[in-house]
Amino acid sequence: MKAIIHRKYGLPEVLEFVELEKPIPQDDEVLIKVRASSINAMEWYGMIGLPIGRLGGGLTKPKDPRLGVDYSGIVEAVGEARSDFKVGDEVFGARNGAYAEYVAVKKIIIPKPKNISFEEAASVPIAALTALQGLRDFGKIQAGQKVLINGASGGVGHFAVQIAKAFGAEVTAVCSSRNIEIARASGADYVIDYAEENFTLVAKKYDLLLDVAGTHSWKEYKRVLKPDAHFVIVGAPKSAGLIGPLSHVIKVKFASWRASQKVDFFIAKFNNEDMNLLAEFLETEKLKPFVEETYPLSQTAEAMRRFGQGHVRGKIVVTM
Ligand SMILES: NC(=O)c1ccc[n+]([C@@H]2O[C@H](COP(=O)([O-])OP(=O)(O)OC[C@H]3O[C@@H](n4cnc5c(N)ncnc54)[C@H](OP(=O)(O)O)[C@@H]3O)[C@@H](O)[C@H]2O)c1
Repeated sequence: MKAIIHRKYGLPEVLEFVELEKPIPQDDEVLIKVRASSINAMEWYGMIGLPIGRLGGGLTKPKDPRLGVDYSGIVEAVGEARSDFKVGDEVFGARNGAYAEYVAVKKIIIPKPKNISFEEAASVPIAALTALQGLRDFGKIQAGQKVLINGASGGVGHFAVQIAKAFGAEVTAVCSSRNIEIARASGADYVIDYAEENFTLVAKKYDLLLDVAGTHSWKEYKRVLKPDAHFVIVGAPKSAGLIGPLSHVIKVKFASWRASQKVDFFIAKFNNEDMNLLAEFLETEKLKPFVEETYPLSQTAEAMRRFGQGHVRGKIVVTM
């Protein structure tokens, strides 16, 4: 089968389009013919090999050369111990090595809603799970709350705006002028163009701030937070260095340690319960993925370059 691998760390030039053995599913696995995958910061950092990531992932070169996690596709074979899926089922989920024509999956596999395409389905898992868990589990979102999403037009952000609306919040989206339309289409009640206005200088106070972009200091964020607000750190600008974007997280956590607000950073976790909730949101059109561009698998390096430039509207998808 065709697949993308990287035998060394670096910029997208390190990605190779190669022939690999097609996986043989174990008794408890489902073999999926992948139709699409998507680009996330996870693959970006896995590719460049942040020093902190190399501790577990391979010091001088990647231990596992495969890349890609989100997938959508069609069940091609089912292990003997599985009765929950059958050949021909359309599914989506998460599995390492999804930039490939086939993956064998044990855990994160969910029926694909019929009303969305394979491309749309493949854009959902990491980005929408992050948005859901950030708002619900760490942000403790409630209907009627004033929620601000800083970085509201990219992968995580455009899903976060829609999920916050699904929970009944009043949403303010912060993004660039290029992406105001997608923030509006995602359902934001108010949109702030960060080049025109600094949201940390407005008088309004928020119950919950989901910080996807990580573009301000704690001192600035604090100005727009109610005393009992939740502040949830999701990400920070792309950076290299020893610990990459984690340096922003550490700065904010350190600066806020005596604050009355609840400040959290988290790493999203895959689970089928949350994936099923997202599938329900997709079926009922509370969630509508936006895919800016698709690239064939052979051009994954190009797709990764595009992601690296930033300012993507929604998601970049790779198709097989
Ligand atoms: N914690 C977790 O489990 C987890 C999971 C997934 C991702 N992440 C992190 O989340 C972050 C976003 O990921 P993504 O896939 O959504 O990336 P993305 O698609 O590139 O989105 C980045 C967002 O940041 C916005 N942005 C850039 N500069 C900004 C500024 N000066 N002010 C306000 N917003 C600005 C962008 O808006 P414009 O494009 O309009 O400029 C865009 O909405 C990354 O740091 C990633 O590492 C964390």
